[in-house]
Amino acid sequence: LSSIEIDLSSIPEATAVTLKWRGKPLFIRHRSSEEIESSKEVDVTSLPDPEADDKRAKVPEWVVLVGVCTHLGCIPIAGGGDFGGWYCPCHGSHYDNAGRIRKGPAPQNLIIPPYKFLSSEHIIVG
Ligand code: FES
Repeated sequence: LSSIEIDLSSIPEATAVTLKWRGKPLFIRHRSSEEIESSKEVDVTSLPDPEADDKRAKVPEWVVLVGVCTHLGCIPIAGGGDFGGWYCPCHGSHYDNAGRIRKGPAPQNLIIPPYKFLSSEHIIVG
C-alpha cells in the first residue's frame, strides 16, 4: 500500500512511535507543549539545516517523519541523544523533537513524508 491511515488517538503525549510506510520506518511524535516551546525557541540560524519549527509540523503537537538517518541510512532511536528527539547510534547524529539535525555527521533534517490530516486524530501518509 502506498498510503496508510493512522489513528493518532492511541499515541500518548510526549511519546513517539515507529510504524512502517513503503518499507521504511515512519516516526510519529506526539509533542507536549513544553517540547513545542523548546523547539520554537531554537535559533534557526544556528542549525546545520535551518528550518523553523512551524515548517516541521502541520499541527504543532504532531511530528511525522521518515525514520531514516540522513547520514548513511540507519534508523535513529527515539528519546535518545542530547536534544530529546532521536539519536542515530551508527555515527552519532542527534536530532531534536522536530527531527532537525543538531549535532553529528548527518547533513539534513529527517525527511517529512507527504501527509494530511483527515480529522484532528487521523492522518493519511503517502
Ligand atoms: Fe546515522 Fe551515520 S547513519 S549517523
